[in-house]
Order: sequence, then C-alpha cells, then structure tokens
Amino acid sequence: MNVLTEPAWAKLNLSLDVLGRREDGFHDLKMVMQSVSLCDQVTLTLRETGDGLTLSTNLGFLPADGKNIAAIAAHAFAARTGADISRLDIHIEKRIPVCAGTAGGSSDGAAVLRGLNRLFGTGMSLEELAVLGEQVGSDVPYCVLGCTALAEGRGERLTVLPSLPECYIVLCKPGFSVSTPELFRAIDGVKIRCRPDTAGLMDALERQDLHGVAMRMFNVFEQALPPKRQTVIQEVKNILIQHGALGACMSGSGPTVFGIFRAEADAKSAAAELGASWRDTFVTKPV
Ligand code: C5P
Repeated sequence: MNVLTEPAWAKLNLSLDVLGRREDGFHDLKMVMQSVSLCDQVTLTLRETGDGLTLSTNLGFLPADGKNIAAIAAHAFAARTGADISRLDIHIEKRIPVCAGTAGGSSDGAAVLRGLNRLFGTGMSLEELAVLGEQVGSDVPYCVLGCTALAEGRGERLTVLPSLPECYIVLCKPGFSVSTPELFRAIDGVKIRCRPDTAGLMDALERQDLHGVAMRMFNVFEQALPPKRQTVIQEVKNILIQHGALGACMSGSGPTVFGIFRAEADAKSAAAELGASWRDTFVTKPV
C-alpha cells in the first residue's frame, strides 16, 4: 500500500470552560467535544524516490515547513517511529473553514498521524497516537479519536462520552476570523460571569436527552469577544433558533456558530437563510 486517504472531521464544542491560566502559558480547560461529518480528506502518498516531504491543498501548494500542522504531525511521527517521510506527499482537500473554531488544522494533523500509522504499518493504538498528538497541538489528541469526549487540562486529558443522539447540526462561520491566542489573552482580562453546566450536559448525554444537551450548550469565549462580534454571533444564533434549533452555541475560539435540530427540513431551511449571507454554512451530522 503506498496511497491512502483519511477523513479529518470538524470538531464542535458542545461546551467550553476556561478554568485558569497555567504557569506554562497555556490554560486549563473543560470542554465537551463532538466530531461532525463535515471533513477534510487527507491523502498520503509514498513516492518511489525520496527528495523531501511535500504538502499541497486544493487551495494551493503550501510550504511543508515547521508552521504547517500537517507537516509538524508528519515530523513528530517520523521522530517517534523512525519512518522515512522524505518520500511522502500530503494532499489535503479542505472543506472545513479555516480559522473557524472547528479544529480544521488540528484534525488534518490527527489524520496525518492515523494515516502514517496505517501507511507504515506501525501498529500504534489510537491512544498512543493521541499522546504523540500532544506535541502537535492541544486539540490534536481529541481529533485523533474523533468522537464525543470530555477534554480537560490543555485539552489532552480525554474521557470518551456517549455519542450525541441522532440529529442534524447546522454550522455557520460568519465572515470574520478570531485569533485563538488573542482570545485566550482577552479572557484573562474578563470576569467570567456565566459558565457551562458541564456535569448537567454530560448527564444529558448519558440519558441520550438531545434537548437537555442543546439547552446546556455554552462557551465562555463568547463573553471575551468585542461587542460588535458578539452581536453577529447572537444574530446567527437567533436565526438558528427561529428555524427550530433546540440550542445554538459558538464553537472553540469561534467564530463558527452551530445549532442542533431534530428535523432535517428545519436544519436545511436554517442553512438556506444563513447561507445567503455566509458562504461557509453546512448541514452536518454527528460522527
Ligand atoms: O496548542 P495549540 O498550538 O493549538 O494552541 C494555540 C494557542 O492557543 C497557544 O499558543 C495558546 O496561546 C492558546 N492555548 C491556551 N491554552 C490551551 C490551548 C491553547 O492558552 N489549553
């Protein structure tokens, strides 16, 4: 086998709480994460000759340098296993919006780890790959698993949870980007007034109570956005709720907002209205 393709699923935060800043500059987090069917496709090809790692996307060729998370993942895998990645081409078909709070880059990095493990027949478990992913980025260990999970610590302490019950999820990325490090800095200066009921949300998942999950979805980062951005996030939420969403929330450091629906027709009508204003609008399902 010298070619294979791995899906890289988008992640949503059903909840996100920032507990505090740590001495290493990172923050302790408590988040319930959910993977959804919107995904990039990561194709790994081993060439006959080895003149260096290459990286391309449907958006153009990228430098395969230390800034690209897919290349960082490949180098971390090579350092851990001794695999020769000088014959490797990585091609990423991007569908997950970039800089959107949905872990597109982290998920590509995770897909590279899973794919290289298969390509080189290394036989590492998903848990071992997740530990390796800690070196690549805070969300990468979760993205290696791609399921429903509680993530704690920097994001690397994972507890697998019961999956979200069958539903439709509309994702919409309004037309601005948020810098994750800047938002972390901003939240250090904000008095967090409301926090998610993470335990209640996990209970609702245990009971497979979709309405109970949806009504507890909450992301503390929404309070750290500038007021104009908060207004846009609220407008997207309002449209989702008007079309019948059981709940709506911002994901990660944003700006993607998502809503959970029981009925596909309601999800599609919400997506049609939002899609008229924001190109990056998708109807997805939990995976
Ligand atoms: O780990 P990753 O490279 O994805 O993190 C990007 C940035 O987000 C970090 O440099 C840091 O500023 C911030 N971050 C944080 N605490 C976390 C995760 C990320 O402060 N738990």
